[in-house]
Amino acid sequence: MSSTCMVLVQLILFLYLVGEIGSKVEFTNIKCTSLDKEFDNFEYCHLKSVNRSYKYLSVKVNLYKIPITKVKVNIALLKRYSGYKPFLYNVTVDACKFLGNRKSSPVFAYLHDLFRNHSNMNHTCPFDHDLVVDKVSIGFINKQFTEVLPFPHGDYQFESNWFAYGINRAVVNVYFSLF
Ligand SMILES: *[C@@H]1O[C@H](CO)[C@@H](O)[C@H](O)[C@H]1NC(C)=O
Ligand SMILES: *[C@@H]1O[C@H](CO)[C@@H](O)[C@H](O)[C@H]1NC(C)=O
Ligand SMILES: *[C@@H]1O[C@H](CO)[C@@H](O)[C@H](O)[C@H]1NC(C)=O
Ligand SMILES: *[C@@H]1O[C@H](CO)[C@@H](O)[C@H](O)[C@H]1NC(C)=O
Repeated sequence: MSSTCMVLVQLILFLYLVGEIGSKVEFTNIKCTSLDKEFDNFEYCHLKSVNRSYKYLSVKVNLYKIPITKVKVNIALLKRYSGYKPFLYNVTVDACKFLGNRKSSPVFAYLHDLFRNHSNMNHTCPFDHDLVVDKVSIGFINKQFTEVLPFPHGDYQFESNWFAYGINRAVVNVYFSLF
């Protein structure tokens, strides 16, 4: 193929992809599940609509075996086809190390920035208190999201698994659509 032709094919492909890329985010649900009720339990976990322009997300988890000194978090992104399938990201981080040095994981630093100003998960281990994410504005998350997520339209799920001392203690799933 001639190089002019290649450029043309690439341009057409590019325009096609851009047309299919989501530019608006709608958060549809959040689900929190404790996998060990003697270790942790969710006091609340919800998306709330105050009015058309103000929607927020809040989570509070009670911790029963404090202080907690070893935490790992796995985050995977899934996209819905017929059922949710892994999509692009599946990463695990040592939360204690990460909170001590946020530069150690750019992906987690990005996700942490979405809620850290509204949370007491803003220091490194140990955790000797309940964890709270308080009224993170969906408008704020949307703005951060659409600027950096050039993903195709569709329904997505963030699945996060929270391990303490190597055991999975809780699952937090956040569902959203790009359109
Ligand atoms: C929505 O609610 C927020 C918080 O109560 C308020 O500041 C804002 O003015 C409201 N917006 C509209 C359009 O009512
Ligand atoms: C992410 O990777 C881990 C480890 O390989 C695996 O156990 C887990 O099922 C994966 N998560 C998803 C949602 O595919
Ligand atoms: C958090 O708040 C500080 C101080 O108000 C601000 O400078 C910073 O940009 C905020 N960070 C994020 C990720 O919103
Ligand atoms: C962490 O968040 C708590 C509660 O929002 C706040 O009181 C505290 O000053 C914050 N600490 C740091 C290091 O930002």
